[in-house]
Amino acid sequence: MTDAIQSMLNEHRTFPPADNAAAHIPSMQAYRDLRQRFDEDMEGTWGQLAKEHLIWKTPFLRVLNAEKAPFFRWFEDGEMNISENCLDRHVDAGLGERTAIIWEGEPGDVRRISYRELLADVCRAANALKKLGVEYGDRVVIYMPMIPEAAVAMLACARIGATHSVVFGAFSAQALRERVEDAGAKIIITADGGWRRGEVHALKPSVDEALLQGCSSIRHVLVVRRGGNDVEMQAGRDIEWHEALAVQQDQCEAVSCPSEHPLLILYTSGSTGKPKGIVHTSAGYLLWARLTMQWVFDFHPESDVFWCTADIGWITGHTYSVYGPLACGGTTLMYEGVPTHPDPGRLWKICSDHSVTIFYTAPTAIRALIRAGDEWPKAHDLSSLRVLGTVGEPINPEAWMWYHKVIGKERCPIVDTWWQTETGGHMISPLPFATPTKPGSATKPLPGIFTEVVDGDGKTMMPDQGGLLVITKPWPSMLRGIWGDDARYVETYWKKFDGRYYFAGDGARCDTDGYFWIMGRVDDVLNVAGHRLGTMEIESALVSHKAVAEAAVVGRPDEIKGESICAFVVLKQEANNDLKAELKAHVAKEIGPIAKPDDIRFADNLPKTRSGKIMRRLLRDIAAGRDIQQDMSTLEDHRVIEQLQS
Ligand code: PRX
Repeated sequence: MTDAIQSMLNEHRTFPPADNAAAHIPSMQAYRDLRQRFDEDMEGTWGQLAKEHLIWKTPFLRVLNAEKAPFFRWFEDGEMNISENCLDRHVDAGLGERTAIIWEGEPGDVRRISYRELLADVCRAANALKKLGVEYGDRVVIYMPMIPEAAVAMLACARIGATHSVVFGAFSAQALRERVEDAGAKIIITADGGWRRGEVHALKPSVDEALLQGCSSIRHVLVVRRGGNDVEMQAGRDIEWHEALAVQQDQCEAVSCPSEHPLLILYTSGSTGKPKGIVHTSAGYLLWARLTMQWVFDFHPESDVFWCTADIGWITGHTYSVYGPLACGGTTLMYEGVPTHPDPGRLWKICSDHSVTIFYTAPTAIRALIRAGDEWPKAHDLSSLRVLGTVGEPINPEAWMWYHKVIGKERCPIVDTWWQTETGGHMISPLPFATPTKPGSATKPLPGIFTEVVDGDGKTMMPDQGGLLVITKPWPSMLRGIWGDDARYVETYWKKFDGRYYFAGDGARCDTDGYFWIMGRVDDVLNVAGHRLGTMEIESALVSHKAVAEAAVVGRPDEIKGESICAFVVLKQEANNDLKAELKAHVAKEIGPIAKPDDIRFADNLPKTRSGKIMRRLLRDIAAGRDIQQDMSTLEDHRVIEQLQS
């Protein structure tokens, strides 16, 4: 058991919700009433909300089609357009001059983009994509820094019914190639580079490298100029974004898309094989993005400035930097760079400079900023903040308390939101002005979401007993599948409980108050600094190096990152210290710097059972420097333990 989980088990403090009669959900009673509506008529309630919250081109008649479960379909006979719901709708309502995006570059340059301007840019980009041959249903890969053009690119795809797949800018050329090939993308939208830690981090060269082999579906690469770094432009293939947009009209009809039209593919790590392309469709996804903005963040578009610090390469950036705030017609803040540049006060300075009211980040960032010292937040005026959120990994009570006291001044409610790439939006979270909070608990499922903690047979666990977290009923923003691999979708999420429940892959316990405490992944997925990585992916990267015969990767508790990566490696050659650095660099090249092992240990063998299975629990204990808890009677070669411990 990690120290963080141990401290959660000992956590008994409860904090009452803040008072706010004007909140979307202002009390526990309002929460219960809304839940009850779903209990009594789940489909009817979803249907009513979908009618109220989205603009439809063709109204739907049927709410849920479960005939081919677990391939659920929501609002399937309705038609709408995501970009129209995020842009035209607000401009038509007279809000064209409202700021849609406040963007701050790492060097400090600021842009404010109104809804009217954003709509015009999206239309120009959509027309440019059409001109380059992008048609309804085509896939477009977006590999960009955090600049407004990334959001424009996403919305432009949505406008013409192209499916976007954003690839995190720190993923390597190799990782980009795999995703481009799996998605069969026609176009890549990228930038010359973007600012990180005071330097320009080049992106276009990775695209060039990715396209050296395979990727035969790619016709063009659109290049936004941001970093100013030199890039090679391949004649006929590569096109300047600004030039392509400059010649386009600022109007473009929003295509009518069926509710179930795929809006996006986002690759995420699983416990086996290559990353899987999680598919989200249109209406259900946007409905939940909008509702959770209101319910969980109490977002009021006329007065709030919302800042989600996630990169758009992750689902959090999709739902809460782009689609959620824009679907509500509010202001979203985007920041290009790292939180500690030029100093650890950067995030707090941005909050103060732009009067951010709702701030949403990962526990890893909070822990890193705690270590930097209280003088940084204290140097800035944080009085505009009113709601704080966390996402991506369990938050230890100590970090929660610091966030509560030093950032929230014991005034701002904290919403610890549990969800996944697959769920599209929040699933378990406090409501800031309704739910009493307990540090370290994501509290209760949202109205419309049905979660339980069960044993391996699907039987509900008694309160306070650890088990597996499941979602027992479908919800509109659920993933619709894995791109091109229906069998893997069924196998990964539904088979464990015979199609009855969605299996999240997390361990959890539910206390006597019905509060959920997430204990972390129960599979071979790591959560490093809130980033999800598969152990097998890292192992495959390691064994693709000529010196490596075999590798096993496990997570190790880490005070800042939650988990760090420890790799046990059997070599084909003599070990030396340079080789460790070389292997780390190799993994960074194969996947990206976030997957670099923090610790590499060489051994003559890996601990295996007599049937040849790697003993991972044993490796986790060794990596953490803990007493070995696993029964070692089945271990084939005992000498290997001493070697690995050193
Ligand atoms: O283990 C859970 C953890 O992050 C996983 C999902 O990762 P990803 O798909 O990359 O999405 C992250 C952002 C939504 C989950 O299976 N996780 C996410 N939020 C929390 C969390 N663990 C504990 N508490 C959370 N609030």
